Amino acid sequence: MTPTELTTAVQRRRTFAIISHPDAGKTTITEQLLLFGGVIRQAGTVKGKKSGQFAKSDWMEIEKQRGISVTSSVMQFDYAGKRINILDTPGHEDFSEDTYRTLMAVDAAVMVIDSAKGIEPQTKKLFKVCKMRGIPIFTFMNKLDRDGREPLDLIAELEELLDIEGCAMNWPIGMGKDLRGLYDITKKRIELYRPTDVEEPYLALDEAGRIAGDNPLKEDSVYTQALDDIELIGEAGNAYDPAKIATGDQTPIFFGSALTNFGVKTFLESFVDMAPQPEAHLTQEATEITPTSPDFSGFIFKIQANMNPAHRDRIAFVRICSGEFQRGIDITLTRTGKKMRLNNSTEFMADTREQVTSAVAGDIVGLYDTGNFQIGDTIYAGKEAISFEKLPQFTPELFMRVTAKNVMKQKSFHKGIQQLVQEGAIQLYKTYTTGDYILGAVGQLQFEVFQYRMQHEYNSEVIMEPIGSRTARWINPDQLDEKMSSSRNLLVKDINDAPLFLFENKFAERWFADKYPEVELTAKL
Ligand code: G4P
Repeated sequence: MTPTELTTAVQRRRTFAIISHPDAGKTTITEQLLLFGGVIRQAGTVKGKKSGQFAKSDWMEIEKQRGISVTSSVMQFDYAGKRINILDTPGHEDFSEDTYRTLMAVDAAVMVIDSAKGIEPQTKKLFKVCKMRGIPIFTFMNKLDRDGREPLDLIAELEELLDIEGCAMNWPIGMGKDLRGLYDITKKRIELYRPTDVEEPYLALDEAGRIAGDNPLKEDSVYTQALDDIELIGEAGNAYDPAKIATGDQTPIFFGSALTNFGVKTFLESFVDMAPQPEAHLTQEATEITPTSPDFSGFIFKIQANMNPAHRDRIAFVRICSGEFQRGIDITLTRTGKKMRLNNSTEFMADTREQVTSAVAGDIVGLYDTGNFQIGDTIYAGKEAISFEKLPQFTPELFMRVTAKNVMKQKSFHKGIQQLVQEGAIQLYKTYTTGDYILGAVGQLQFEVFQYRMQHEYNSEVIMEPIGSRTARWINPDQLDEKMSSSRNLLVKDINDAPLFLFENKFAERWFADKYPEVELTAKL
C-alpha cells in the first residue's frame, strides 16, 4: 500500500462499540446495522431467542443457555464508502471487565437507551469508561413504538445523571400508538412512521420548519406538541458543537425504534459522517503514534480461548493503531522482545472468519495464539520499539477460593486456570503463605462461566467456596509485614506477585488504616 492508499484506507474506518443496559435493544440495533451493511440478509439471525437461532457472536454454549452474550465479538461491513467495525460488548452487568477493555479499542461509542426506562445502572457504568477515554458518544433513544417517557424528560435525565450535554438531532412526533414520525432537525424533513407510500417516506418542510403544503398531520396534536418542544430546545437547548462531541462533552441524540427499523438508517447515515476516523494512540513514553504512519503497530485488548471447541483455538484480538497488517507480517512482541511471523490471522465478519489479507489502523484482527500473548501486549513491525499505554485494570469485588474436585486431575486444573486467567476472564490470586487459589471477579456470573468452562473445555471439575465480597487494596512490598494479615484482611499475591489485602469490609479497611497509618494502600480502577 502506498502512503496515499494507506491514508485513504484509514480515513474510511469507523470503529465503535454499542453500549447499553441489558434489554435496551443493543442486539436489535446491531442486527439492523448489519442488514444495512449487507452482512446478514434476514432479521433474527443475530439473535432470536424464540426462533432458536442465536447471535453470530454467541459462540459459547453458556450464552445459548442464558440467552446473553458473554463475550465481545467484532463485526465488519462497508457502508456509504466507509468501513465499519462494530465491537460488540456484553450487556450483562457481570461482564463489565471484558466490556471495559473492549471500550479501550474503539474510537466512538453508541449508547442505546430504552425510552421507557431512561438511564439504567449498566449504561451509567459503561458511560463512565467512555467518558474517561474522552471519545465521542452517540445516543440512540430506542423503542419509540412503545409509550415511553417525554423526550424532554429523557434528555434532562441524561444530562443530569451522566453529566454530558445532549443535543437532539431529531425529535419524535408522538410515541407508542401515536407515533407519526421523526422530525429531522438537521436535514429539515419529517421521516414518516409506516408511511402510506413507502417510496415517499419523507415530508418536506418549508423555510419556517413547518410541513410544506397540505397534510393531515398539520392538524394533529402530536405534531404541534413536537413543534413546541423543538422550539423550546432550539431556544433553551445546547447548540450543536462538533468540538464538544469530539471530546465526549456533548452527545448527539437520535430517537427511533430498532425493532421496527425506524430511524436506524437516519442514525447510521449521520453516524458515519460524524464519527471520528482512527486517531493517534499514546505510548507509555507519551509519544503519539499516528494511524497513518507506515509501520504496523497494535495492542491486544482481548484473548478468547476455545471460540471453536472443535479446534481448541485461542484468539488474541488486536486493535491496529498504525500502518497496515498483512498476512505473514513480521512483528516484535514488546513485552518479551520475541520476533514472530504472523501467518495465521483472521478478520471478523461475525461468524465467517476469513483470513486477513490486509487490514489497516482502526481495524481489528484476530491472531491464532499458542500462548505468546497477554492482554495489554503491544506488537509492532517497525525498527523502533513501541509500548502502548497500559490498559486499565478493574478491581474485582467478589472472591472465591477454588480447588480441583479430583486431586488426580491437577494438570488440567492448572492449565485451565492459567489459560482462563490469561484470557482475562477472571483474576487469580494466591494466598501468601499456603498458595491457595483465590479467584476475583466483577460479578457472580463470571464465576459460573469459569466453572462451566473449566468443566467443558478442560475437563476439570472445580469446587468454589465463596469468601464473599471484599475490597482489594495493594500494598507497597517494602511496607509489608505478614503479621498484618488476619481473616478480616486476607493477604494474597496477584499474578505479578504483587502483595495485596482483601478486606472484609470498609470497617476492616478503616481499622487497618488506623492501626498502620504509615502504610499506603492503593486501589486499581
Ligand atoms: P439487548 O441486546 O440490549 O439486551 O436487547 P435486545 O436487542 O435483545 O432487545 C431486548 C428486547 O427489546 C427484545 O425483546 C427486543 O425485541 C425488544 N426491542 C428492541 N428494540 C425495540 C424497539 O425498538 N421497540 C420495541 N417495542 N421492542 C424492542 P424480547 O421479547 O425480550 O426479545 P426476544 O425474545 O424477542 O429476543
